[in-house]
Amino acid sequence: MVSQPRARLAVFASGGGSNLQAILDHLDQLAADAPAEVVLVVSDRAEAGALVRARKRDVAAVHLPKDQSPALLGLLEQHRVTLIALAGYLRLVPTDVVAAFHGRLLNVHPALLPAFGGTGMYGARVHQAVIASGARVSGPTVHFVDERYDEGAIIAQWPVPVRTDDTPETLGARVLAVEHRIYPWAVAAVASGAVRLGADGRLARAPEFDFDVFLPEPRRHPFAG
Ligand code: GRF
Repeated sequence: MVSQPRARLAVFASGGGSNLQAILDHLDQLAADAPAEVVLVVSDRAEAGALVRARKRDVAAVHLPKDQSPALLGLLEQHRVTLIALAGYLRLVPTDVVAAFHGRLLNVHPALLPAFGGTGMYGARVHQAVIASGARVSGPTVHFVDERYDEGAIIAQWPVPVRTDDTPETLGARVLAVEHRIYPWAVAAVASGAVRLGADGRLARAPEFDFDVFLPEPRRHPFAG
């Protein structure tokens, strides 16, 4: 049951847009119960696969090459956007947009925050740092975006193993596969109001995260190979 008006979602992406695709597919599956619809895709790169995916779905696809905050805010108003999901967006979101979308701006980061985040931590560099640290676990973090980068309230995380023979590419692929499951879930949860950010910047409301939903064999021995 949709308890509030369907959110009008904008997705900002710089790359291939596989997370955008996962969100589109998830909302399609929810059909009449979808708490959001993608109404706009913005990219700083004209050739971004995300723009191609949007056009294929008749979603407005806009190439906005620079951080033009008045233009961006105008665009969001024009499309009556009520929720924003960053999906591999490599530019800083202007502070006026961050302020205007408090509690309605999400990001997915490909490591377990608060570790391995912050300036310069994007793409393969994140996975390289995780491998170099010797951590045995990594995984995506979905979080609200505030003015401090990679520090907004965490909505959901999903652990994946780091293998001794991992390269940034193999680890990145393992994390990305899980992003595609957890990010659409989190976007829908914020859109429906099931997850909410409080005025103090912490989660005001969030259901318990049920890991068993994703793990087919949750009780297997962890060293079973
Ligand atoms: C993902 O790994 C995401 O965590 C990071 O950028 C990548 C985007 O991939 N922020 P895609 O464009 O969604 O395929």
